[in-house]
Amino acid sequence: MAEGGSGSDSSVGSVVCVENGVEGSGVGEHWRGCSMEEIHNGLNEFELEHVPAVRPSETHTVLYHCPIREPDSVPPRPLRAHHKWDATHVRLPCSSKSQYPVTAADGSSTIEARWEMIEKALLQPINNSKELQAAILSYNTKYENQWNFRALHKLLEDDLDESEARVFFEDLLPRIIRLALRLPELVQAPIPLLKQGQCHSVTLSQQQISCLLANAFLCTFPRRNTMKKRSEYSTFPDINFNRLFQSGGGAVIEKIKCICHYFRRVCPTERDSSNVPTGVVTFTRRSLAAGELPNWAEIQAPLGATPLHITSAGTIEDQGLGLLQVDFANKYLGGGVLGGGCVQEEIRFVICPELLISKLFTECLRPTEALLMVGAERFSDYNGYAGTFEWAGNHDDCIPRDSSRRRQTHIVAIDALHFMQSQHQYREDLIKRELNKAYVGFQHTLSTPAPGVASGNWGCGAFGGDPRLKALLQIMVCTVTQRPLVYFTFGDAKLRDEVHRMHTFLLEHNVCVKDLWNLLTSYQSQNMTPNELYNFIYGCISNTLKHSPKTKTMSPKCKNIRNLLTCWLKPQQANAREMPVSSSAARRSNLNQDIFASSESEVEADSVPSEDSIVAVDPSTSPSASKTIAANAQSIAATEQTKSSQLHDSVEMARNGKKLLAGKLESEQTELQMKKSNVSPSTEKPTGSRQRSLLEMLDQCYTTNAGPETKRICLNKTGNLKSTTPTKQQ
Ligand code: APR
Repeated sequence: MAEGGSGSDSSVGSVVCVENGVEGSGVGEHWRGCSMEEIHNGLNEFELEHVPAVRPSETHTVLYHCPIREPDSVPPRPLRAHHKWDATHVRLPCSSKSQYPVTAADGSSTIEARWEMIEKALLQPINNSKELQAAILSYNTKYENQWNFRALHKLLEDDLDESEARVFFEDLLPRIIRLALRLPELVQAPIPLLKQGQCHSVTLSQQQISCLLANAFLCTFPRRNTMKKRSEYSTFPDINFNRLFQSGGGAVIEKIKCICHYFRRVCPTERDSSNVPTGVVTFTRRSLAAGELPNWAEIQAPLGATPLHITSAGTIEDQGLGLLQVDFANKYLGGGVLGGGCVQEEIRFVICPELLISKLFTECLRPTEALLMVGAERFSDYNGYAGTFEWAGNHDDCIPRDSSRRRQTHIVAIDALHFMQSQHQYREDLIKRELNKAYVGFQHTLSTPAPGVASGNWGCGAFGGDPRLKALLQIMVCTVTQRPLVYFTFGDAKLRDEVHRMHTFLLEHNVCVKDLWNLLTSYQSQNMTPNELYNFIYGCISNTLKHSPKTKTMSPKCKNIRNLLTCWLKPQQANAREMPVSSSAARRSNLNQDIFASSESEVEADSVPSEDSIVAVDPSTSPSASKTIAANAQSIAATEQTKSSQLHDSVEMARNGKKLLAGKLESEQTELQMKKSNVSPSTEKPTGSRQRSLLEMLDQCYTTNAGPETKRICLNKTGNLKSTTPTKQQ
């Protein structure tokens, strides 16, 4: 059934998308939640505006004459200006400042203008792969013993048959060379580097990009080949193709095919330049200061307000038309695209090769930075993924252009954290880092409704993240930025249903961003395995709401809370209190203190691995079945426990450090008190400026309903239980 849809009724400020009465769960339906029509607000995919038109300004460098005066069939006229050979602009190979040492046969050494060396080498006849390698090395003599072009040789000499190889050397390569050598004519205005901390845009014509990419293919860019830590461009991605030409693996050959196909499409021939693309592409670096980021612990926006379409079919680039499409990036943009890599970002960069030029001028991204790329055209189709990736022929991109002549394809590069051990991802500061990263990518200043986001398992492949967590984080960010979310689970129907069910649950219980923040940042201290996150959330929300005073009367007294706590916490955690703790157990009990802490106990911030030191998780270290069974038992126990109110206190105390759904519980409790004292809710003053902890509210509830005092569980510094009797709550 086509993903159309009718009818959606909104309730409690949240959008409940219903498809003919059933949420897209018809037989054969791959999607749940809102229909794509609802995601697009009933408009066509390209009706909502993403970004303003291109206009040269202090923060927007345009490399052609703007506004464009040429007819649609003619590329925009390149801006004429003087080169800049400095640390804030791209050092172009055709600059007169680009010089290179040449050693003559007699051993004497001279300094030559490198562009002349490049022209001389490339204008020689080049009839095979070895001669191409020799030509490229002749102006990169420093690397003649390091670079080997085995992938290029394999493609041109083994994979292509004789006629195809002849076409490459007699037709395509000369076109690439001719285009590359037009650099002094096509790119005169200096290209600013998009450096860290900058908010700046660069817009180039597709023609200029193709000329720059032809130079990258021929490895002409100076100073971009050394990987020394201290070198000038060590914080920039690589741009010359030499690494691609020498990488191994079948996917590398297929990536080179995509790039050669791109050049076949855009390089003019001697007699015909009608194939030159005439559009433009904008690259915008976003960099937010700490003060511009949300305080996730205080946002009241209900998660249900975010329309969610989640599907196990399709891909971001094919089904995310008109939406803000997420590039699951590396902080060095493009990741392994000019090497052996071939997953989401690398694939996007080779089927839309204009994205590759971002590597020329974009410094690696900091935690609160993102890169928006608008207008890149798609030239290739593909099949497979990673090791099975293969070029699958031409792609005619029919996406309409905007008023600035950009294809209406908006891609935002955001790099997730790379986790060595999956449990790190539940640490509060790393959850915050991922929320802020996605926020930088999804935020906007639009006064019109913002287009939706097309995303998926961001950070959950090569970077080892938990898609169930990342899905919730992206829902939180879409809630704050008021963007619908289309989530592609990439074939995982189970994940689709779990996320959809959780989203529906959060919607039905009117859970807001800060509540979910509290839950997620409490989870880590439970030391549960990653696949229990949702059980934990269900358990907490059900417990808390089930026992809001309105619905349950508290039992008069918590009996033996310590035993009750023990069966709530994992046995080894409970025992940890009695035995001398090892360093890791100490850390664990510290984390538990985070949960049990009363106001006076300061939990030592765990030594958080720095961004760079976190490396990919090993998928084989998935939680053992026994731990999962134990964890599930624990969450069932938690649910059972809350059936008897004596235990309720233990569960809530387990979270005393976090205000879980405090607002909701507090308002219901207040309502209850008022009913008793015949005060209408609206006139109730908030009790005190500080939001009381859940425990305090429960204490008040106990003392109000049942009289006896409850024991407040606190852990002292060494993790031992100590009990204090709370002061009477008024
Ligand atoms: N559309 C939707 N989902 C996709 C697509 C797609 N086209 N391609 C892949 N996915 C899903 C898959 O489930 C994949 O496992 O996204 C998951 C994450 O993809 P990765 O590329 O592994 O992203 P990530 O884990 O963030 O790793 C980023 O990989 O691509 C490189 O340069 C990138 O170094 C960076 C790292």
